[in-house]
Amino acid sequence: MAELFAAVEVIAAKRDKHELSNEQIDWVVDAYTRGVVADEQMSALLMAILLNGMNSREISRWTDAMINSGERMEWSALDRPTVDKHSTGGVGDKITLPLAPLVAACGAAVPQLSGRGLGHTGGTLDKLESIPGWRASLSNAEMLKVLQDTGAVICAAGAGLAPADKKLYALRDVTATVEAIPLIASSIMSKKIAEGTGALVLDVKTGSGAFMSDPERARQLARTMVELGTRAGVKTLALVTAMDVPLGRTAGNALEVRESVEVLAGGGPADIVELTVILAREMLQAAGVKATLDPADALKNGQAMDHWRRMISAQGGNPDAPLPVATENHEVVAESDGELIAMDAMKVGVAAWRLGAGRSRQGEKVQAGAGIDMHAKPGEMVKAGQKIFTLHTDESDRFERALEALEGAVRISNTGEKVERLPLIVDRIEG
Ligand code: URA
Repeated sequence: MAELFAAVEVIAAKRDKHELSNEQIDWVVDAYTRGVVADEQMSALLMAILLNGMNSREISRWTDAMINSGERMEWSALDRPTVDKHSTGGVGDKITLPLAPLVAACGAAVPQLSGRGLGHTGGTLDKLESIPGWRASLSNAEMLKVLQDTGAVICAAGAGLAPADKKLYALRDVTATVEAIPLIASSIMSKKIAEGTGALVLDVKTGSGAFMSDPERARQLARTMVELGTRAGVKTLALVTAMDVPLGRTAGNALEVRESVEVLAGGGPADIVELTVILAREMLQAAGVKATLDPADALKNGQAMDHWRRMISAQGGNPDAPLPVATENHEVVAESDGELIAMDAMKVGVAAWRLGAGRSRQGEKVQAGAGIDMHAKPGEMVKAGQKIFTLHTDESDRFERALEALEGAVRISNTGEKVERLPLIVDRIEG
C-alpha cells in the first residue's frame, strides 16, 4: 500500500517549528504502530516535539490517534456511573488502594487500569501483587464481572489498549523524551479515555519526589490533560498536590499495602486519610453521584474495608493472609535533638528503590517486602538516637547504596527554623 507521507517530511516539519496537520499526525502514529516508520525516525520526531512543542489541536489529534490504535472499553452494562483517578506518581503514593474501594462504597464504579513502577516511584500493581494470590491480569469480561460484583477493579491494561502508547513510551524512555508535556499528557489521557471512564480526577504531583518537580510545569501538565479529557467528553478535573515529602509513613510494596489497610480500618497517617477523602469527594462529584454516605464516614464505619476485601478476593487475593516481610532490616537514627524540618521525597524514593522495592528495567522482579518505614515526619520533634527510618530488604548488600541515597534526606533543626513544605493541595484545575 502506498504510504500517505514520507516520515522525513513530517520530522522536518516539526524540526522547522511548523504545525503538523491532522493527516500527518494520524498517519505517523498509525505507521509507527504498524512498523512502517522506524524507531530512529520516531525518535527524531519525538525530540522535535520535545524541543518545539505542539499546540492544543495537535495534542488532541495525537491523543486520538493513540486511542484509535487499539480498543475502546465501555461500561454501559453497569447500573452506576464510572469514575477513575490517575496519579502522576510519587513516593509512598498508595492512595489508589484505599480510594478505589472507598469510592465504590459511596456509590460510583471505579474501573482502574494501573501500571507497574519504574524508577523511584512505586506502581500500584506491584503493591497489590504483594497480597498472596492477587492477580493483575484480567480479561475484559472478568473486569466487568469484578466491577459489577464489588464496584471497583484495579488491574493491568491489556495489550489491546492504546498499543501506540506502549511502543512510544518504551522509545521515549531510551531517547530522553519522556519529559515533553504534550507527550506525557497524550500518553496518560489516551489510556484513560480508551479505558472508557465517564469521569476522571487527576492527581498531578509536584515537588522533589515528583516527575514534575516545578509547580508551574505541573500546573501546565494538569491544564493540558484536563483540556484533553474535556474535549473527549470525559468530565475531568485535576488537583496539583504535594510530593516534596513522601506520602504517609511507608514506601515499598507490602509496607504500603499494610498502611492502606490501616486507612481502610479507620486509622492510618493523617496526610493519606486527608488526600484519600478529598479525592473521593472530587470523584463522586465528577461522577454526578449524590452520595448519601460521606467518604470520611465510609472509612470509619467499615464499608470501604468491606469493598476492599471483596475487590481483593475477586481477583484471587486473600485479604487475611499475612503480607510478605523482608528478611533483613537496618535502622537509621536522628543525629541530634530538634524538630524534623525537611524530608526529601526523592532521596527516600531512590533508597526504597535500591532496597529492591522498584525496578530499573521493565520486566525486572521487585521484592514484596523491601522498602522504608518512616518513624518521624516533618513537623515532629525528635531526640538524638531516636529511630527515623527502618530499611527493609531481602539482600543485606543493598543497605550501603540505600544509605548513600538517604544522605541529607532529613534536616533536624533546634534553632526555631520553620518547616518548609508545599501545602497538600497546591492547586485545583477544572475543565
Ligand atoms: N505515565 C504515562 O502513562 N505516560 C507518561 O508519559 C508518563 C507517565
